[in-house]
Amino acid sequence: MWRQTSIIVTLTVVLQILTAVNGYQLPNGGKIWALLVAGSNGFDNYRHQADICHAYQILHRNGIPDENIVVMMYDDIAYAHSNLDPGVIINQPNGPNVYEGVPKDYTGETVNSTNFLKILSGDEKGMEGVGSGRVIKSGPKDHIFVNFVDHGATGLLAFPDLSGQNLYAPELLKTFQQMAAKKTVFKTLVMYVEACESGSMFDGILPTDLNELVSLLSFVKMRQSSYACYYDPELGTYLGDFFSVLWMQDSEKENLVREMIHQQFEIVRTETNTSHVEEYGDLVIGSLHVSEFLGYRPSPPENKRPLPAINMNEVVSSRDVPLGILKMKKHARSSEEREHYAFHIQRMTKSRKHLEKIVSQILLMASGYDVNKVEHLKNMNYKLKLEDYDCYKALVSLFSEECFKISENAYALSQLKYFANICGDGDVQMASALIAIKNICTFEETMNGVD
Ligand SMILES: *[C@@H]1O[C@H](CO)[C@@H](O)[C@H](O)[C@H]1NC(C)=O
Ligand SMILES: *[C@@H]1O[C@H](CO)[C@@H](O)[C@H](O)[C@H]1NC(C)=O
Repeated sequence: MWRQTSIIVTLTVVLQILTAVNGYQLPNGGKIWALLVAGSNGFDNYRHQADICHAYQILHRNGIPDENIVVMMYDDIAYAHSNLDPGVIINQPNGPNVYEGVPKDYTGETVNSTNFLKILSGDEKGMEGVGSGRVIKSGPKDHIFVNFVDHGATGLLAFPDLSGQNLYAPELLKTFQQMAAKKTVFKTLVMYVEACESGSMFDGILPTDLNELVSLLSFVKMRQSSYACYYDPELGTYLGDFFSVLWMQDSEKENLVREMIHQQFEIVRTETNTSHVEEYGDLVIGSLHVSEFLGYRPSPPENKRPLPAINMNEVVSSRDVPLGILKMKKHARSSEEREHYAFHIQRMTKSRKHLEKIVSQILLMASGYDVNKVEHLKNMNYKLKLEDYDCYKALVSLFSEECFKISENAYALSQLKYFANICGDGDVQMASALIAIKNICTFEETMNGVD
């Protein structure tokens, strides 16, 4: 008993010394690299950039040097007109400023899917002259931690991209495969994703053994929506996302040299009872310690104070955030203000109904006006396969161009699963669906971007 205790103490001391000398070093002598990405912009999406800034603070405090961390964030929040405390971003009520010291490697329009894949795969040439130009320059002994927080939909992760480009599952898989095939790029990669339906990026797509030498684990939410939490009445927006806040609170509480990835997963999965948290890839990685991806330094006692409880009445599905914010604001003081917000709620509800109607019309026309077929398409819950993506991307692109820009309309993302169903159904042809989208949206007033 005694002996065991002293062994643990010794290990901790050794790790602290290594941390002080040369950043955080893994037991095999490798280093930790991190890519942190907030894939949205706008004050309604405050929470995504807040989550990513907070993740940076954890890595920084845990001894990972800035030269091993690359951050992609639009950076329109800290000095936004609506931010009452300019230069400050918080991730929990009365929380510390998580914006301080965050390296802003890529901001604004450089936060796009093409750049994300280049940075991840270490394509230094490809990033020359863009942002800080920094990429993940990991070696064969190194671990990579990727944290992606954003809106998502079936088979895609969204970016705040004016061109409306998204990251589709096959593109991410291809990059992982190329990195793994080289065998010199990394040892182990762990990716935490917070986005609606992000499980569809990996489920049935990500192999469990990309390569015997490298391993990859991804930790994401499955088919449901992601959930926002910590509504701040002063700022008029949500400060965090449920899953992100939980894994980060856990990381600040536990001894990460002892906690295994799988234990963190179980804790977060149990607490995230609003949706399913899932893991994909090589689950053997789960037995590695969290410190091998997030670093570790024992927290000072003041960090151990109880964290603000999450008020479950305020927790809202990510796609309902714009509406949720209006509803919270409606508790305004004057009756005039209440009326103002009631009007906007009504307008937004109407525009959502309109969007659903347009999608139903597209399905109806595509299926040759067969009502039963439409019912089937709406309920089939199809899991996209790699070979379906040519069809799926074509439908999503045209829908985004002709009907509702999905990069500006989180609610439109919730409808994309029906296009996935069309591609999986085999009965309704892609060509008919394309014609239907074109026809319906050319002749309809689609109120683009209202929601
Ligand atoms: C991404 O940003 C780069 C500039 O950093 C730009 O050249 C490229 O066209 C953008 N990609 C897309 C898909 O918008
Ligand atoms: C989720 O857990 C919280 C406590 O952490 C509880 O208040 C809430 O009712 C639970 N929700 C569901 C849907 O189980």
